[in-house]
Amino acid sequence: MTSSDWTIEDIPDLTGKTILVTGGNSGLGFEAVKVFSLKSAHVVMACRSVNKGEVAKKQIIDFNPKADILVMELNLTNLESIRSFVNLFKENHSRLDVLLNNAGIMMVPYGLTKNGFENQLGTNHLGHFALTGLLLDLLKKTPKSRVVNVSSMAHKSGVMDFDNLLYENGKDYSPMKAYGRSKLSNLLFTYELQRFFEANKIDCMALAAHPGVSDTNLFNHAAPKWVMNLLKPLFLFMIQPASMGALPEIRASVDQNAKGGEFYGPNGKREMKGFPVIVKSTAASYDKESARKLWEISEKLTSVKFA
Ligand SMILES: NC(=O)c1ccc[n+]([C@@H]2O[C@H](COP(=O)([O-])OP(=O)(O)OC[C@H]3O[C@@H](n4cnc5c(N)ncnc54)[C@H](OP(=O)(O)O)[C@@H]3O)[C@@H](O)[C@H]2O)c1
Repeated sequence: MTSSDWTIEDIPDLTGKTILVTGGNSGLGFEAVKVFSLKSAHVVMACRSVNKGEVAKKQIIDFNPKADILVMELNLTNLESIRSFVNLFKENHSRLDVLLNNAGIMMVPYGLTKNGFENQLGTNHLGHFALTGLLLDLLKKTPKSRVVNVSSMAHKSGVMDFDNLLYENGKDYSPMKAYGRSKLSNLLFTYELQRFFEANKIDCMALAAHPGVSDTNLFNHAAPKWVMNLLKPLFLFMIQPASMGALPEIRASVDQNAKGGEFYGPNGKREMKGFPVIVKSTAASYDKESARKLWEISEKLTSVKFA
């Protein structure tokens, strides 16, 4: 660590801010909720399992009794659940300073969401796209609000195929290809959202982040836990704790100097670990035509219009 490294010491007091974190009960999301509540924000932990959320909340409260955390149910694989969540959220909140779209799954076998979308694109991109669109009025009402999408280095292997975006009936599906596509979609969406905010003079910024390689439950989707426990010692040298991996998304969410359209990741070798800095994503992620197409298809599939 050097004196110029960005750490949680650089975060201002967040009293009065409302921050919503999807998947806040585990891994990076959990670490982010911990830090935001330490800085006195009101944090909403949106979890598919309220039970898991309450257990995670208790862990944070045990360490910080003043933490102001609300656990709410949200399942990103179900548009009905997203709509119910948003309705309830709006009943209880008049502002939304940061929407941190963190939840995700990785490299699962082919399967469909409740609405018939391939699971990884459905959860990682389409669910968050719908959530963001439905919360847009609240984001618009809140001065200097932000949307932060969590991508991955895996976006580099992502390829968009708009003729078969959802791997219909499993055609051409591979768990890695679909994960890469979903993480590339997170970036295409971020940059298009930033253009949308600018074109419509909305006082909100869209940013993205990736955590390098971090020790969380994410890898349990790709292989059984006992296999991962066996493999862990082999890649301990390249993996960092979740508390470090969460720093890029935390920085994108609350660094006062951050700007719309920025992408944060770790500053170490090959961006695998380290302190958060601005990093570059691939040329494919900046492709405006792909971003526009993805936006249009996402609006159609989710029936959520950004206006
Ligand atoms: N860890 C890494 O090295 C790494 C690398 C690159 C990118 N990322 C990205 O980082 C983000 C966070 O992942 P993580 O590493 O912290 O993994 P994690 O520990 O598995 O946490 C993922 C969170 O997402 C939630 N989630 C999954 N499906 C959901 C759904 N349908 N609806 C609502 N919530 C759902 C999980 O809920 P449950 O607890 O109920 O499963 C969990 O809270 C993901 O977007 C991931 O792609 C991670």
